[in-house]
Amino acid sequence: MSSLTKDAQKAAERVGLVSDKIVINGGKPLRGRIEIRGAKNLATKAMVAALLADTPSTLRDVPDISDVGVVTGMLEAYGVSVHNDGDGTLVLDPSNVLKAHFAQIDALAGSSRIPILFCGPLLHRLGEALIPDLGGCRIGDRPINFHLDALRAFGAIVHKSYEGIRLTAPNGLQGADIELPYPSVGATEQVLLTATLARGTTELRNAAIEPEIMDLIAILQKMGAIINVEPNRVIFIEGVEKLEGYDHRALFDRNEAASWASAALATEGDIFVGGAKQQELMTFLNIFRKVGGAFDIHEDGIRFYHPGGPLKPVVVETDVHPGFMTDWQQPLIVALTKASGRSVVHETVYENRFGFTDALIEMGADIVVHKDGLESISRRVPRRPLEQAAVINGPTPLHGADIEIPDLRGGFSHLIAALTAEGTSTVTNIGIISRGYEHFIDKLDLLGADFVYAG
Ligand code: EPU
Repeated sequence: MSSLTKDAQKAAERVGLVSDKIVINGGKPLRGRIEIRGAKNLATKAMVAALLADTPSTLRDVPDISDVGVVTGMLEAYGVSVHNDGDGTLVLDPSNVLKAHFAQIDALAGSSRIPILFCGPLLHRLGEALIPDLGGCRIGDRPINFHLDALRAFGAIVHKSYEGIRLTAPNGLQGADIELPYPSVGATEQVLLTATLARGTTELRNAAIEPEIMDLIAILQKMGAIINVEPNRVIFIEGVEKLEGYDHRALFDRNEAASWASAALATEGDIFVGGAKQQELMTFLNIFRKVGGAFDIHEDGIRFYHPGGPLKPVVVETDVHPGFMTDWQQPLIVALTKASGRSVVHETVYENRFGFTDALIEMGADIVVHKDGLESISRRVPRRPLEQAAVINGPTPLHGADIEIPDLRGGFSHLIAALTAEGTSTVTNIGIISRGYEHFIDKLDLLGADFVYAG
């Protein structure tokens, strides 16, 4: 076996989305305290940012999740040394960046969308970037046209091949004038990571302004970047000649916090989520309260609980920040199956993010998905052509079932559904959940869930 094959294999094992299962006896409230750490959707991008520096970076509160493993493998393939102290602190040293073997990158990239964000940093460091076909959750087409258009605007040349996409920048990268067709999180990050070292100024309009993006901007500022966030989703980036390593504690994972909050509500439990903060969860907290959930904000976290009495239905639209996140609707829908009346959830960010409701219906939920949205309901934001709506009539008791998890957030909602259901459920493919939920089996155990894990 050649060392390349070994490396590729090691990398693939690190990603390790094994097809394992959990058998859950439902009906027991989840109670107790868990801790959450840095956001998957920040930590992985912060790791990529380390590639831009001349000196090592230190990232703290990094969760032990497989997406971090993917990015670690990719950085190592490019010669970045990544030291993990085993307790959430990574030291990333980019002083020996080199070209990677395609097989190594390909073996890793299959399970994540982060590799596309390597383009700008690699073009700056190596003059070339090779991006294999991208993975990530199966939640629609998830195209990369905004990314490629932005990179072209900086002067990159995009060559498409059967392996993936190869980018070169024969004349280096220059500041650009870019308006995104939609405030895409990934495309905004692409522009930030590319513009900081590009020659001249970049103006980005219709940018995403999610808290994870603000945290990435804070990291880039620590590194020496000059980035101004202006009103109305406009960001100006003045290119600088070089960047230094950073020392940063990652923003907490608000998606994980919202998921455990919904688990507390759906199971009629009481969960203290250590590390959760109010500010980034305000929109979620409003809906949580409207549904009938209760919460107490503490210095070191938030207690989420079911205060007794019936849950109430809501109408909610997913949206870009500061709207209700698309990643929050799946766990919440399980709680909405217990609310008395008709709830409506509009998904406006992705075109295919209600697939997970099939399993809930099989478990007894009354959910109708309208694939083209609902025209009749008055809307706060204009309709997007890809909008869908789920109408949930409750309360409906759920019963145990055999479920195969389709994606990260839908998968977590299946776990919650199984925990609330009467009887036993067998949930397979739970490895997907380790992409974004740190040590979730241990956490279920801590919270008193009744299950057998057959990993
Ligand atoms: N889009 C395009 N073209 C592009 C890029 C995006 O049409 O080139 C569309 C998408 O298809 C989608 C919309 O724009 O309809 C928004 O996508 P966005 O680019 O904002 O999403 P993303 O960057 O791919 C990140 C998170 C997602 C989260 C979304 C929205 C990461 C790794 N992923 O995805 O998180 O749902 O932003 O906030 O940061 C998850 O954590 O489970 C997850 C899917």
